[in-house]
Amino acid sequence: MPLEFAERIRRIPVYPVASGYDLGTDVAMLASNESCFAPLPAVAEAAQRVLTGTHRYPDPGYAPLRRALADRYGIAPGRIALGNGSCDILLAAGEALLEPGAEVVYSWPAFSVYPHLAAASGARAIEVPLDAEDRHDLDAMATEVTAATRLVLVCNPNNPTSTAVGLDRVAAFLDAVPAHVCVVLDEAYCEYSLILGDPYASVELLRRHPNLVLLRTFSKVYGLAALRVGYGLCGSEDFRVAVDQVRQPFFLNAAAQAAAVEALRHQDEVERRVTQTLAARISLEGQLRNLGLWVAESDANFVWLHLPDGVEEADVVKGLAEGGVLVRAGASLGRPGALRITVGSEAENDRFVAALSDLLA
Ligand SMILES: Cc1ncc(COP(=O)(O)O)c(C=O)c1O
Repeated sequence: MPLEFAERIRRIPVYPVASGYDLGTDVAMLASNESCFAPLPAVAEAAQRVLTGTHRYPDPGYAPLRRALADRYGIAPGRIALGNGSCDILLAAGEALLEPGAEVVYSWPAFSVYPHLAAASGARAIEVPLDAEDRHDLDAMATEVTAATRLVLVCNPNNPTSTAVGLDRVAAFLDAVPAHVCVVLDEAYCEYSLILGDPYASVELLRRHPNLVLLRTFSKVYGLAALRVGYGLCGSEDFRVAVDQVRQPFFLNAAAQAAAVEALRHQDEVERRVTQTLAARISLEGQLRNLGLWVAESDANFVWLHLPDGVEEADVVKGLAEGGVLVRAGASLGRPGALRITVGSEAENDRFVAALSDLLA
């Protein structure tokens, strides 16, 4: 007899994980929007140092990391939610806020985990199409907020399309959303964003909007994807208390906590890496446009392109993989006929452009 699972197991979409982890080292991993830079030696050492004490559970209050983030952003430690990756906070938000009869509003395509929230809770997902330039249409989203809405997700810059909207528009949108509706502004890539200017810019919005959560991660610009650390800067303590209530204790391991605290001490190097990544992205975008492709206006560490009519996305993705380049297929992200490519090292980007150009020729 097969096991009998909860009904929601049939509804929850399977996350489109990247393949290729078993392909060895000579593969350009451009499928998951990670940083191509390894963590700084001091950060890796901080993680290693705590390993001798791992017979004890990690600090359940996550005090040093909470304090470091509180100091950096000028927010009370009690308004900082932490998570085993920012995905953990997203899923906990779904659990804490959603239930049958409730609605969650987000743009589509956006981050692949968003549909999971409605499927897991039995809430209704309201997916609002992006505009013609593959950007969030915040006016259209505002009109979808109803008495049933509990949660709105805005991904800025948006994954997978790489586009961002300005903070003035986000502020106007927040003014239009009732104060009892939680708005999660998913800013996993904000450190790369020239439209936002700097990672402090949106923090100002928290003053006027207690219902706002700025969701951030150490997985991208800080190069700690494998350690899984995310955080939310919250307009009020209520959100942090609720997401802590629905999760297991000790959700953030000691090595992750130590590495994240150390990573925050090296902002100059972070900025240097951002500058290098943006320069590489601009060059990559230029080369792709020279191939005649439509490329979105990226404001992140990845690019999003539409393949020409008649070109099979699956063939291109397969051909690239055979050439040692892994990218993410649009079909798995809600937009068939597109590709999402992470900015890698110069050699990886060159390999990708050469392989794509061969396949399109
Ligand atoms: C928009 C967005 N939000 C959140 C995440 C989750 O990041 P993590 O759970 O690694 O912090 C990602 C990861 O790709 C993302 O693209």
